[in-house]
Amino acid sequence: MSVLVTGGAGYIGSHVVRLLEQRGDDVVIVDNMSNGIASRIGELPLEQIDLSHADATDRLVEVIERYSVDSVVHFAAKKQVGESVQRPLWYYQQNVTGLANLLAALERTGVDRLVFSSSAAVYGMPDRLMVEEDIDCRPINPYGQTKLIGEWMIDDVMAATGLNAIKLRYFNVAGTGWNDLADTAVMNLFPIVLDRDARGLAPVIFGADYDTDDGTCIRDYVHVKDLALAHVYALDALAAGRPRVSTFNVGTGQGASVREVIDALSDALGRTLTPEIGDRRAGDPPRLIADVTAISTELGWKAEYGLADIAKSAVAAAAWRAAQA
Ligand SMILES: NC(=O)c1ccc[n+]([C@@H]2O[C@H](COP(=O)([O-])OP(=O)(O)OC[C@H]3O[C@@H](n4cnc5c(N)ncnc54)[C@H](O)[C@@H]3O)[C@@H](O)[C@H]2O)c1
Repeated sequence: MSVLVTGGAGYIGSHVVRLLEQRGDDVVIVDNMSNGIASRIGELPLEQIDLSHADATDRLVEVIERYSVDSVVHFAAKKQVGESVQRPLWYYQQNVTGLANLLAALERTGVDRLVFSSSAAVYGMPDRLMVEEDIDCRPINPYGQTKLIGEWMIDDVMAATGLNAIKLRYFNVAGTGWNDLADTAVMNLFPIVLDRDARGLAPVIFGADYDTDDGTCIRDYVHVKDLALAHVYALDALAAGRPRVSTFNVGTGQGASVREVIDALSDALGRTLTPEIGDRRAGDPPRLIADVTAISTELGWKAEYGLADIAKSAVAAAAWRAAQA
């Protein structure tokens, strides 16, 4: 396979790049390096293109032809919910225009295999414990909207052309497959807890009075290495023809509470983190767990790693980074 990975210098993209490289696929990365880290991709070819720019389609067409690309994995996007609320138009330009420019390049070159990074953010605040792919999507912020619009654009192009695509809706991505590929942004629960700990601060739980067993919110945490492998399964399914189903949740099907995450991190650190309890945050549903029946039935993918593995890998990567500094 010859795979173009947009956003391949990012956290999740670089994990997929490494898996593809290990199994001998040819890889070319397109990234504007707004949040990419060059050391994650070593000597692999990197084309610095901003997908939202007016010249992006022409430049992508040239790259696709030069590298004889047959498949694309599209990660490149902005992903911060709060920022998307403050700068909605910019999020639409980055995430929606960027995808439109990519789809135009696929149409012009006839590349017909695409895997798209979507998100559980498309669901918004579902009123059920386990989320299936076919429930009503009602995103509650511009970030989630851009992902849902992206899915619609892909569906429409699939209906009108020979494009075959798989859209993966990631739940809570965490952990590290290789220390040098770690998530360096302090935005998700694992890095936030570890960052506070490194600064001598206790973790904060936003609301401990939810209707859950221990009162804290429950999420479905998927190890980034498992998630990366789901993309490889998706690419292989596309190589075999048009998939019967094209939208999949990627999670474990198991929930973990905020307290359980803090406990897992305590175990991995070898000492107890004692949380402080803060107020609830607006827009946090009590539980959000993926129904993963479809991806397991259709693609044969299942998460292998659990909460303890995620915590151990996150702690090891943080220690590795601290030693490099
Ligand atoms: N990390 C998560 O928890 C999570 C959850 C659900 C979905 N996602 C989606 O997965 C994808 C990857 O997320 P990540 O965590 O690896 O993020 P990341 O920021 O680490 O990686 C995104 C990469 O895309 C590049 N990029 C951004 N805008 C670009 C543009 N206009 N042109 C070219 N390159 C651009 C960045 O430089 C970066 O290297 C995103 O689409 C994100 O929305 C992530």
